[in-house]
Amino acid sequence: MTFILTDSSDESQRYQFTLGEAVVVTTSTYELYDLVKDNPDEQVIIIGPNVKMETARVVAEHFRVVRPSLGVILIRARLDVTTMSEALRSGIREVVSSDDAASLVAASKRSLAISAQLLEASRVVGSSNSRGKILIVFSAKGGCGKTTLSVNLAHALANYTNSKVALLDFDLQFGDVAVALQIEPKKTISDAISMQNNLDELGIKSLMVNQQKNLDILLAPTNPTDIEFISTDLIDTLLDSLKNSYDYIVVDTSPAFTDVILRVFDQADKCYLLTTLDMPAIKNLKLVVSTLEALNINKTKLDFVLNRSDIKSGLTTREVEAMVGETFSTLIPSSNDVSASTNRGVPLVIEKPRHAVSREIIDLAIRTDTFFRPIVDKKRGIFRRKSK
Ligand SMILES: Nc1ncnc2c1ncn2[C@@H]1O[C@H](COP(=O)(O)OP(=O)(O)OP(=O)(O)O)[C@@H](O)[C@H]1O
Ligand SMILES: [Mg+2]
Repeated sequence: MTFILTDSSDESQRYQFTLGEAVVVTTSTYELYDLVKDNPDEQVIIIGPNVKMETARVVAEHFRVVRPSLGVILIRARLDVTTMSEALRSGIREVVSSDDAASLVAASKRSLAISAQLLEASRVVGSSNSRGKILIVFSAKGGCGKTTLSVNLAHALANYTNSKVALLDFDLQFGDVAVALQIEPKKTISDAISMQNNLDELGIKSLMVNQQKNLDILLAPTNPTDIEFISTDLIDTLLDSLKNSYDYIVVDTSPAFTDVILRVFDQADKCYLLTTLDMPAIKNLKLVVSTLEALNINKTKLDFVLNRSDIKSGLTTREVEAMVGETFSTLIPSSNDVSASTNRGVPLVIEKPRHAVSREIIDLAIRTDTFFRPIVDKKRGIFRRKSK
């Protein structure tokens, strides 16, 4: 069906004959606007030869804003340069002569093809926005709790936000995600080295260890010297591919700005920067912030987490915040249950979801998901957590 704006409603049969399909003819621009609004799939309208150029221009400009994919075809008795250039400026896609029926049919076909391309392009852009988000967990001082937070955050996202999650152990020399979860490292990122030049999505999937529903893990090499074969190009390929298959890619890191870690920072959507309440860790956090600033990492991506926030160190949270010049979004208390659960190979958020440590990390996971997918969350009503 095609909508046609003319100055006489008697013309419907003629257009129907020319176009070889049902047409709806209207003499009112407002009726035309309503017709198009009520028919979201309509992608072409025709403006008859006797409709004033000024009206045609207003109509075209209207649809250019409200439905950019829709093509406007203008019929004129005479095709002169002024008409053509005015039409072009207002966004009219084609101008055809009133005595050339074949041209009208061809213009309509061409316009529909362009509309299909525009719709496809906007679909691709839309879906690229919903690609997986990279969440990096980092501290420049070792032992602050990066692995603990990465492992628990990944499990919390998978279990409490119903998201598909990949956990990557990018502490490439001394990664201990496999140990923390008691996974036998049969497959690791080292297996990607030999496939480096032709690593496709299927190849990458084959490297992932399935941990539970919605959670796959890419383990660090078992041989620390493999690190020299893991290029930043390989990291780019991995991240780009994983973004197609997962909602969140949680990256555990080594306590150093290696090339690989810098590459992840570059692409990260959120950076969880960890510290504990001791001066070396706090000093390093300040250095991390200034380094990331120098690297032009957007400040809004940074999220500050204080681990073991309740230990008596002589420093209060407020004092540390003042020293660093940032506010902590998350305060994770200290508890022996953290290492006890790691020793059993079961993350605390799974073993004891009501534990104070788990509640903080589950809250962080839910906040993260609400931040990145607020609409999806409301629709899904996914907050399955009963505790707190
Ligand atoms: N909130 C906590 N309460 C008690 N213990 C904790 C807490 N967070 C982490 N730990 C313990 O601290 C130790 C170091 O934690 P973790 O391995 O997560 O740190 P990391 O930053 O990954 O260290 P590395 O830099 O060596 O990779 C572990 O034994 C862990 O169980
Ligand atoms: Mg670690």
